[in-house]
Amino acid sequence: MKVLVVGSGGREHALAWKLLQSNKVQQVTCVPGNGGTASMSRCQNLALSAQDFEGIGRFALVNGVSLIVVGPEVPLAAGITDYLRQQGLTVFGPTRLGAQLEASKVWAKALMQEAKIPTAQSVIFTQAEPALDYVRQHGVPIVVKADGLAAGKGVTVATTVEEAEAAITDAFNGKFGEAGYRLVLEEYLTGQEVSILALTDGITIRPLIPAQDHKRIGEGDTGANTGGMGAYAPAPIVTPELIERIQQEILDPAIATLSKRKIDYRGVLYAGLIITPDGDPRVIEFNCRFGDPETQVVLPLLDTPLHELLLACTQKRLADLPAIAWKPGAAACVVIAAAGYPDAYAKGKMITGIDQAESEGAVVFHAGTQRKSQTLVSDGGRVLGVTALGETLDAAIANAYTATQSIQFEGMYYRRDIGYQVQTARSAAG
Ligand code: AMP
Ligand code: GLY
Repeated sequence: MKVLVVGSGGREHALAWKLLQSNKVQQVTCVPGNGGTASMSRCQNLALSAQDFEGIGRFALVNGVSLIVVGPEVPLAAGITDYLRQQGLTVFGPTRLGAQLEASKVWAKALMQEAKIPTAQSVIFTQAEPALDYVRQHGVPIVVKADGLAAGKGVTVATTVEEAEAAITDAFNGKFGEAGYRLVLEEYLTGQEVSILALTDGITIRPLIPAQDHKRIGEGDTGANTGGMGAYAPAPIVTPELIERIQQEILDPAIATLSKRKIDYRGVLYAGLIITPDGDPRVIEFNCRFGDPETQVVLPLLDTPLHELLLACTQKRLADLPAIAWKPGAAACVVIAAAGYPDAYAKGKMITGIDQAESEGAVVFHAGTQRKSQTLVSDGGRVLGVTALGETLDAAIANAYTATQSIQFEGMYYRRDIGYQVQTARSAAG
């Protein structure tokens, strides 16, 4: 079969890489892809925007593409799935309505309420003054969230009233455009964050192995929020008992409620959770797609052929498949970013050492790179994700860092504490 992957990040490189491990997958086309997807055999890039639904549809029809996998939330929220399905194509990814789960926090909160899914308490505001009054009365910490898509920048965890006030004022002054004219003010939850990426065909929902991301730019989770600076899987905090609770209290009710609303959800339901100090899972966000960089640690551990799982979702027969199989051990991913990220950063820096890193057993997923004749140059804020496996989490983390040291480009930056939560949990347990 021929597969088309929409997107250009590390997540899409990992999807294409995993799909190509099956000899049933003849070719993968990435739209627009990156320097990494351009270098894999049986893989090609197509220079169209992820928003060019017509162009993508035309290519898929002419070239006999039998499965389209959509990576990012923006085309999903804009209805890429609806459009391509109307053309008779097979798409893994929710429709425009289903993608509201990520594209509107107000909508997602209402769904959680209806489904009785445990989440932070929240209040919705459509004007600045009442929101400011609320913060002054209730105090901090409080979490201020823009309703719509804001490229990962729409959430402020405010620890002072001034910070919360600034977040509210900025949003209503148009910092996020339309996305910020409705705000969710939310109870601040403490605990460890976990990402549960679950595959669904709209009827059955199956979680992949739990992962943990590192959202902040600085070590010890300090500084600005980013798209994610590293990840590891499986996350030991998620015991089999906890997975069962997540299935029953969160995943099943979410799918049942989507289905009650006549939303045909076939794709990934990503539950961003906080595990409270009492051990209870609470949803802090839903995403309508694979996580990035969680995908870069989850897929390398997957043993079941990925295309079989994705096709089963699109054909509503996930319940017929055997349990998803996993390789033993663990995976860790260290994201290498350009100096300055998540603010302004330079592009076009020559990258060396990837072959060396891969000869040490790592897989280097490209996030923001471009191939310019014979050289590879940086082309984004997050540039590379170095993933390594290991028999244990400690070994996987050590392997990822050893390989990372082979890679060089001017101004490269990475966090040195990926997986620190595991060590912290271990020392707490004595
Ligand atoms: P999001 O953009 O929704 O992923 O949120 C960004 C980050 O804000 C999350 O990864 C959490 O670290 C933090 N966050 C969001 N909601 C809450 C909450 N209710 N309590 C504590 N932290 C939160
Ligand atoms: N890694 C966080 C996300 O994909 O939203």
